[in-house]
Amino acid sequence: MPNRIQAAFRAAAEAGVGFWAACNRLRLPGTANPFVVGVHEPMRAELTLENLPVTGAIPPGLDGLYLKMGANPVRAATRGHDWFLGDGMVHGLAIEAGKALWYRNRWIGSRTAAAALKRPAAPGPRRGGNDTVNTNVVAIGGRIFAVVEAGSFPVELAWDLEAQRYNPFDGTLTGSFTGHPHRDPRTGETHAIAYDGRVWDSVRHVVVAPTGQVVRDVAIPVAHGPCIHDCAFTARFVIVLDLPVTFSFRALLAGYRFPFRWNPRHGARVGLLPRQGDGADILWCEVDPCFVFHIANAYEDADGRVILDVIAYATVFTAIGAGSTSRAASNAGRSIPRRGVSRDGCSIPRRRSSPASMSGASGNATATSTR
Ligand SMILES: [Fe+2]
Repeated sequence: MPNRIQAAFRAAAEAGVGFWAACNRLRLPGTANPFVVGVHEPMRAELTLENLPVTGAIPPGLDGLYLKMGANPVRAATRGHDWFLGDGMVHGLAIEAGKALWYRNRWIGSRTAAAALKRPAAPGPRRGGNDTVNTNVVAIGGRIFAVVEAGSFPVELAWDLEAQRYNPFDGTLTGSFTGHPHRDPRTGETHAIAYDGRVWDSVRHVVVAPTGQVVRDVAIPVAHGPCIHDCAFTARFVIVLDLPVTFSFRALLAGYRFPFRWNPRHGARVGLLPRQGDGADILWCEVDPCFVFHIANAYEDADGRVILDVIAYATVFTAIGAGSTSRAASNAGRSIPRRGVSRDGCSIPRRRSSPASMSGASGNATATSTR
């Protein structure tokens, strides 16, 4: 019963916040977001183009399906819109034996997109009110999934993109997922660090088995609701970027639809979570404040140090009115200086690491970026 009461209070509070935000949104500029005009204008139609002409030659053996996706709003919102948001569209190009068999683009059938397109929404279970999926499309368990961070369940797509269904990995995913899961070629497992826009005190390490079902979902305590766009792993660790972009009530209440902003009170740290460890086993390495959207690579060197290749920005989203449309402080390619750690880096006791993966490695690790 207490949970039902809590849920009722939360729903009422969220409705109040939503109403307040909607009122304030009316004060925001009504001009079109720069990422929905000009060369960024969304596609207005779903195309099926077959037997495409090929300029030059497609290398023999390069057979398969090339997929991409991103936000492609059916109806672009004006006030408070952000280019990270909006209805998702997946694009596919099928290649076989040197031929470009077909190109298709299809909207993801969220409730919002389906209503705007006047068609039935995609079937399958939903998670919460926001079922927009617009960030990435990946292969997991031999199937194709469109994915997004912080909210909706994934959407499984047919090979020819003509069918889609919301599918929380055959019912095994109980929370949010990520836009950037990563497959371990050694084990076939897919790793993700998932956060939830409505949960601010924890994020999760989620592992999906090669067969496409979740086999691990471990909570990691955090504060302030950090935005964690990407993750990585090494032989022993999963990398958790806990950096100072966090949920912003001020931005939400002001009417902005992307409610994450720079938060200097949050600090910046990189977590090394033993692959089989729980939240208490994570080793946090403090770094100078910065933000990282994507990790290019992660590995352990001969001394057992953990090396990350990233693009780090000195700051992003610093003003309430500066969502992801604003320019990030230009510091792409810089390294993340370590802070508060010894010359040899963060000491990782051997007992905290997987015995099977510790062989030949030292007990020290350093959270370092080289780019
Ligand atoms: Fe990304």
